[in-house]
Amino acid sequence: MRSIHNKLVCGWLSTLWLSLLWLSAACSESKFVYTGPDTDADEVPTPGESFDPECSQCHGDAVSPAPPKSINGGTATTDMSVGAHRNHLAVSESSTFHAPILCASCHLVPSEIQSPGHIDDDDNRAEITFGTLAQTSGAEPVLNADGSCSNVYCHGATLSGGSLNTPIWNVVNATARECGSCHGAPPPAPHPADDNCGSCHPSVSAADNRVFLDPSLHINGVVDLSTGEGGACDSCHGEGGNSAPPSDLAGNSERAAVGVGAHREHLALSTWRREINCSNCHQVPTSVSDPLHIDGDNIAEVPFDALNPAATVELATGTCSNLYCHGNGRGSNGAMDWTIAGPMDCNSCHQSPNPGQAARDMSGEHDKHIRDEDLACVECHAAVVDANKQVVAPAMHIDGLRNILIPTGGSYDPANRRCSNLACHENEGW
Ligand code: HEC
Ligand code: HEC
Ligand code: HEC
Ligand code: HEC
Ligand code: HEC
Ligand code: HEC
Ligand code: HEC
Ligand code: HEC
Repeated sequence: MRSIHNKLVCGWLSTLWLSLLWLSAACSESKFVYTGPDTDADEVPTPGESFDPECSQCHGDAVSPAPPKSINGGTATTDMSVGAHRNHLAVSESSTFHAPILCASCHLVPSEIQSPGHIDDDDNRAEITFGTLAQTSGAEPVLNADGSCSNVYCHGATLSGGSLNTPIWNVVNATARECGSCHGAPPPAPHPADDNCGSCHPSVSAADNRVFLDPSLHINGVVDLSTGEGGACDSCHGEGGNSAPPSDLAGNSERAAVGVGAHREHLALSTWRREINCSNCHQVPTSVSDPLHIDGDNIAEVPFDALNPAATVELATGTCSNLYCHGNGRGSNGAMDWTIAGPMDCNSCHQSPNPGQAARDMSGEHDKHIRDEDLACVECHAAVVDANKQVVAPAMHIDGLRNILIPTGGSYDPANRRCSNLACHENEGW
């Protein structure tokens, strides 16, 4: 049974307590020379590692110098002097869900028993000097009088959504290590509302999203995100090598979700319109860390392209307005619901009447030619459509140019909107 006397400095002890043979022998050896505070993590004894057994003569046991037992022999975790030491330090625990925790994470570790600052006063209480990890992101950790620890980075002081950010040192149970205790699982908005942690955080297994593939990356001061290197742009949004939703950032895959919408319909190669890429609607990042990319709100910016200078998208409803691409071909006058599925027919954006039918909402002399003269589109737009009104040159359709090609000869000048040298009639304005 150890007494309070064990806690006094060696010189004092070896003079007055010569009967404590182990201690006087130890104190006579040269290794008791103080070499300054020990900041080398490798030298810090944690359970399972070899350490100077003399360190556990007053506190700890054969496994670790950390309590239990405490200086007064206490072993109960409800005892402040014992508390959650072993839960923090145990090798088996640290290897499953967090980076190793060392004595130096909470104490200035003496390199020798006689080191100044070690057995320094009569209160027998250890000094708590939090290490740099606990202070990450400006956290200012403190051990409070009631045994609780507050503002500790490791327990999520700087994160959001945690249910137990102020754990109590001598209340030891499994609660403080549950996934939602330090931060939400997942954290609340603006974090993506997606439970599939592994798709964006490489430290977590994608299989169950709770097992850490590399525990040393968790609670190490850095939020690890998928890098997107090597084609992994689909790791946070998109899937199967395609970075466009589905799935969106919240994991939705249905078309009705605004994050999903008509992405795949636009990006698919088409037989009737030009190719559309991400860059027609977004500024495309060159890497995950590109400043144009993740700005914290998890809302994709949709600036559209030069063809659609006035276009806007309303996030709540998914309604796009002032579009050229869905307009009648004469300006930024189209509107479209991004989330409602439906095939685009030839009348969806502009009129496409058959010969003999009215073409009232089309420009110039369309109505006259189509309704009165029974002309088909191909008579004037032969570069784009054939006689069956099939688009033959998708790249020229919805490209911003009104393409006129008259198979029977003659030409059209878009500047003054006049035709000349036609087989059908004199030169006329449209
Ligand atoms: C997560 C923080 C943390 C870590 C890591 C930690 N300790 Fe402690 N330690 C504490 C707290 C909290 C107390 C209680 C302080 C008090 O009583 O006010 C304490 C108390 C002690 C005491 C005094 C015990 C007593 O009887 O009063 C010793 C000795 C000690 N620690 C040694 C160690 C050693 C050795 C290690 C590494 C093997 C270690 N600690 C790791 C937080 C930690
Ligand atoms: C002679 C008994 C004794 C021995 C041997 C001993 N300690 Fe301590 N240790 C104490 C006491 C007493 C405290 C409480 C500190 C106080 O009273 O200020 C303490 C506290 C600590 C703490 C908490 C931080 C602090 O300084 O308050 C650490 C860490 C620690 N000891 C590590 C070690 C290591 C490492 C060794 C081996 C090099 C060691 N101890 C050997 C008695 C001892
Ligand atoms: C003791 C507090 C604590 C607990 C319990 C905890 N985390 Fe964390 N977690 C953190 C901290 C702190 C971060 C901030 C990033 C860092 O330092 O690694 C974090 C970050 C993360 C991240 C972001 C990626 C990373 O590693 O940086 C994921 C994913 C995560 N935690 C998942 C989990 C899961 C799953 C569980 C349950 C098995 C869990 N966490 C339990 C403290 C905790
Ligand atoms: C769709 C991608 C995605 C998914 C899925 C995801 N995260 Fe994150 N997470 C992020 C991004 C992006 C950040 C970085 C935010 C930032 O730095 O502003 C982040 C940051 C974090 C952070 C640090 C928060 C902070 O305030 O700095 C934690 C903790 C975290 N994630 C935990 C989780 C957990 C737990 C899960 C699963 C339950 C999860 N994440 C699923 C993308 C994701
Ligand atoms: C036709 C225009 C268009 C194209 C092309 C397009 N997007 Fe989007 N994108 C949108 C719209 C509209 C939204 C939903 C509104 C928003 O989130 O701001 C969106 C949202 C997103 C989001 C956020 C999803 C979420 O969960 O909120 C991501 C990520 C994204 N797009 C990536 C891409 C990538 C990658 C490509 C190319 C492979 C692409 N987009 C092509 C229009 C487009
Ligand atoms: C770590 C998760 C993550 C990875 C990996 C990722 N993205 Fe994103 N991406 C996001 C988030 C979150 C947004 C929403 C934008 C915001 O928060 O401002 C986004 C938005 C986008 C957008 C919409 C435009 C924008 O920036 O708002 C495009 C395009 C895009 N990402 C392309 C890519 C490409 C290309 C890669 C691979 C280089 C990639 N993403 C990898 C998370 C990720
Ligand atoms: C998504 C909207 C949209 C749909 C659907 C659409 N068009 Fe167009 N179309 C346009 C726009 C915009 C123009 C204006 C010229 C341009 O930018 O190519 C145009 C122009 C044309 C022209 C004039 C030639 C040209 O390209 O300049 C013809 C002919 C035409 N469309 C035929 C069709 C046919 C046939 C279909 C059905 C297969 C169809 N369109 C479906 C938007 C659409
Ligand atoms: C008699 C020749 C002629 C016929 C037939 C014709 N167009 Fe046009 N089309 C034009 C001319 C000329 C323009 C105007 C170009 C300009 O504005 O400079 C035009 C423009 C358009 C535009 C752009 C929007 C607008 O109203 O100006 C669309 C869309 C279009 N045509 C579709 C069609 C479709 C679909 C058909 C068949 C149903 C068709 N056109 C038949 C001559 C014709």
